[in-house]
Amino acid sequence: MEEREALQSTEEILKSLDSLKNLSQGGAAHFLLRLREIIRFHDYRYYVLNDPVIADPQYDALFALLKTLEKQYPALVTPDSPTQRITPYLVKEFPEVTHLVPMLSLDNTYNEEDLREFERRVLEKLEGEKPEYVVEIKLDGASTALLYEDDAFVRGATRGDGTVGEDVSHNIRTIKSLPLKVPLSTAGITKIEIRGEVIMPRASFEKLNREREKAGLPLFANPRNAGAGTLRLQDSSEVAKRGLDAFWYFISYTEGKSLGKDIKTHAECLSLLQKMGFKVEPNYEVCKNMDEVLKYCESWRNRIRDLPYEADGMVIKVNSIAQQMRLGATLHHPRWASAYKFQANQAVTRIKDIVIQIGRTGTLNPLALLEPVEIGGVTVSRVALFNEEEIERKDIRIGDAVLVERAGEVIPHVVRVQPELRTGKERKFVMPDYCPVCHAPVFRDPEEVAVRCINSKCPAQVKERIIHFASRVAMDIEHLGWQTVDHFVDIGLLKDVADIYKLKKETVMELERWAEKSAQNLIDAIEESKKRPLWRLIHGLGIRFIGEKAAKVLEEHISSIRDLQKINLEELSTIEGFGPRRAQSVKEFFSVKENVELINELEKAGVNIYAEKIEKKAGPLSGLTFVITGTLKNYSREEAQRLIEELGGKATDSVSTKTSYLIVGEAPGSKLDKAKKLGVKILTEEEFLTLLKGK
Ligand code: IVH
Repeated sequence: MEEREALQSTEEILKSLDSLKNLSQGGAAHFLLRLREIIRFHDYRYYVLNDPVIADPQYDALFALLKTLEKQYPALVTPDSPTQRITPYLVKEFPEVTHLVPMLSLDNTYNEEDLREFERRVLEKLEGEKPEYVVEIKLDGASTALLYEDDAFVRGATRGDGTVGEDVSHNIRTIKSLPLKVPLSTAGITKIEIRGEVIMPRASFEKLNREREKAGLPLFANPRNAGAGTLRLQDSSEVAKRGLDAFWYFISYTEGKSLGKDIKTHAECLSLLQKMGFKVEPNYEVCKNMDEVLKYCESWRNRIRDLPYEADGMVIKVNSIAQQMRLGATLHHPRWASAYKFQANQAVTRIKDIVIQIGRTGTLNPLALLEPVEIGGVTVSRVALFNEEEIERKDIRIGDAVLVERAGEVIPHVVRVQPELRTGKERKFVMPDYCPVCHAPVFRDPEEVAVRCINSKCPAQVKERIIHFASRVAMDIEHLGWQTVDHFVDIGLLKDVADIYKLKKETVMELERWAEKSAQNLIDAIEESKKRPLWRLIHGLGIRFIGEKAAKVLEEHISSIRDLQKINLEELSTIEGFGPRRAQSVKEFFSVKENVELINELEKAGVNIYAEKIEKKAGPLSGLTFVITGTLKNYSREEAQRLIEELGGKATDSVSTKTSYLIVGEAPGSKLDKAKKLGVKILTEEEFLTLLKGK
């Protein structure tokens, strides 16, 4: 309908409201068709274009007239009437809907390099033909598919698994910018499936949260969660109040007109959608080449957050539909489109619960389960809270909205709580007094922040110990990952680390999801692990404070793991980097009967317990161990060490009772004090050189 015509009709109707209210059924049947068209026109101006041409009271009068007449003549109500947006009953279950065309996702790019790589793949498939691109805003909402037939809205469905989604028509209909009647037939189209994003504009989100706060209801952490949650409500009258909106960006299927033949480009699709009255995000641009694409994308990086709805990047699409068809799709995404994401490394989400995970050493580690949120291209659904003290310091409660950060290699963590989003229903987390897995009472060391379960047989700890033992940084047993360990412990096949070496191929291959070949691979990998260097075994034992580095240092000081059983505290403390904490921990570990028994069993099973014998050349310095401290005048430290080794001696980094000589250069370090304490012989650089000459 033309604007002039709509305005003229509006004026006429408003002038004769009283007589129109008293129309006969026959007169109403005819008039209602026109009245609905006029209201649709005003809806379009207001909700799609944000540019109304009449004032609210005038619109309200038109709408009231429509309602009066429909009430008077219920037989004249049509499903596409503007009054029919709300379903008068609760929708108990969402029927399943098979999309006409599977709903794929998008491949992600984050920088110029990724985008150029996307272009390279496109050009390769198009055999050098240079495509044009359309660049759009990437809306952060819920992916939705609409079906229209014979100008009427048929249904709206969520993405679901991409093939089958949920029919949420009753809620989609409440979106005022969505046309229930579309003049598709004027464009020769009889059936169409379109795709887009249902969003909750920031303003609706803030209003909703303010209302929920007043009502004492939990608040939504972000517009995306609020929108997706709203779309799946049973009560469409509640949905209608929440101010959802939607943008449409893709035609996936047509009948009557053909994609590729009659409609040749994606830009044409967008203008067709716009012309038909669908809301299309207006900031799209046709770009001639990738340089233009990049420039346009980058021009949005710092202002995308100024949009009144959430958007997390741009979407780049090959414009020609014929080219799109040649490019095709993978199972996951079309090859003719890509997202270009502006990575944020922080996001707000809500803590659904705080649970306890038992660490390898029995620590009760609190873990927050989150409403999943995407941060920098990764979905984060859980985050470690470390310990009770941390939870108290940050005042983190169950139900809180929190700012979560994920940066670089650092594991995701809670930056802070958003107390302004509290409803009063948040619960404080209480550290349990009993292990949630084995129910043994927990132990609180006043010296330590951690609370631990000291039952060494606790299945949670057993699993963690075995997983650590078999892991790549320790004994490196291939095919013995956490899922396998989890299962094997649950069915009683593994009760401790030593049981790994008792596994039999025949037993494993009988288990569900295992076959002879996979069982053999596992047994071979276990066999292989018996030959690992000693430091891997030491690390694998999971002695507190003994990581990979410390294990390597320990190996240098001993000839077999048995030495660690006998070694005394003093000797341990002289090892480079071994303060009383590490030394004490080693001592404690070997004072536990079960741990010694474990080592006995591992040895019996054939696991290597000996330190690697460094092939030593026999020479004048054979049997002597040297340590260097400070800067030497004649040699670099490496040169001096090599010289010692060439003459059959051993050069190490740390002073112990096994050190024969400490060579002292300029500005010596703490090694000198250690050597003095242990009575190790000390040589100046000159004395060292004299010694070399004499040999
Ligand atoms: S096109 C085959 N265009 O992003 C067509 N998707 O991360 C695929 N999205 O599942 C989608 N804005 O829900 C397209 N302008 C836009 C988009 C867009 C947001 C969403 C969509 C998709 C997700 C992939």
